[in-house]
Amino acid sequence: MSAARYAVFGQPIAHSQSPRIQAAFGRAEGIEIDYRAIEASPQEFAAALEAFAAGGGVGANVTLPHKEAAFALCATTTSRAQRAGAVNTLLRKGTRWHGDNTDGIGLVRDLTGRHGLDLRGRRVLLLGAGGAARGVAPALLDAGILELVVANRTPERADALVDAMSEPGRAISAYWEALREQGDFELIINATSAGRSDGAAFSLPLSLVNSLTTAVDLNYGEAAIPFLAWARAAGCRNYFDGLGMLVEQAAESFQQWHGVRPGTDEVYAGLRERAATLVTAD
Ligand code: ATR
Repeated sequence: MSAARYAVFGQPIAHSQSPRIQAAFGRAEGIEIDYRAIEASPQEFAAALEAFAAGGGVGANVTLPHKEAAFALCATTTSRAQRAGAVNTLLRKGTRWHGDNTDGIGLVRDLTGRHGLDLRGRRVLLLGAGGAARGVAPALLDAGILELVVANRTPERADALVDAMSEPGRAISAYWEALREQGDFELIINATSAGRSDGAAFSLPLSLVNSLTTAVDLNYGEAAIPFLAWARAAGCRNYFDGLGMLVEQAAESFQQWHGVRPGTDEVYAGLRERAATLVTAD
């Protein structure tokens, strides 16, 4: 009998950190892991996942652009995956897939555990309304924030995200152009893909920032640079990228597959060091 297999599916996938992260967790926990990166186009994804299961695949992560497709392919899903409408973690149950979304809890754990933020009673601005934004919005509300304001380039998508949260008092949408009227926020989250695609400078009103404001970009590496440069110039108290969230969501997935939550500090420190080396080497 072949060993249980795990994988991450995406396109592109060559630069994914997930195999490195899962292997490190496995080493630390004394669990032998067979975890690979599998490149699949949207047209190939469903068949690739079936072939993976037929070959002993019992668990998978799913990243861009397949999170919504994965949700649709699952026989059962967790309530947080349902609210996000997207799945990033698959677990084989019998002959079917069970889907979860660990992105939101990964972000919350990074913010509260690693960075020591207390989210309760905070006003949060979420920029973007695509898959990444939908993945984190439910967990932020569950963490006890006071208000979630969602602004998106295409306003209808912000409205749709807010409607899906079903919390009219706490989750509201705002026009990007009218953000100046929204007051200030203790947390500003960039969930847009702007830094990945055009790399142009980020511009937002300085009035969004107060003396406590933390800014976090869900992207990491070069894609996070434009937003974090804005945050720095705007005087945000803290600003950081999505590397910590990446490690935390991976730990949540690991726990679902192997029944133990691995420590994340060492893996995070290693990735941070590696990222710094890569930037310096450029
Ligand atoms: P992801 O899964 O990373 O969220 P996505 O679902 O394609 O990717 O969503 C991309 C998000 O980035 C959207 O909110 C998009 O805004 P639109 O809904 O208006 O397309 C946002 N986005 C992309 N490029 C942007 C830019 N240059 N400025 C502002 N928002 C941008």
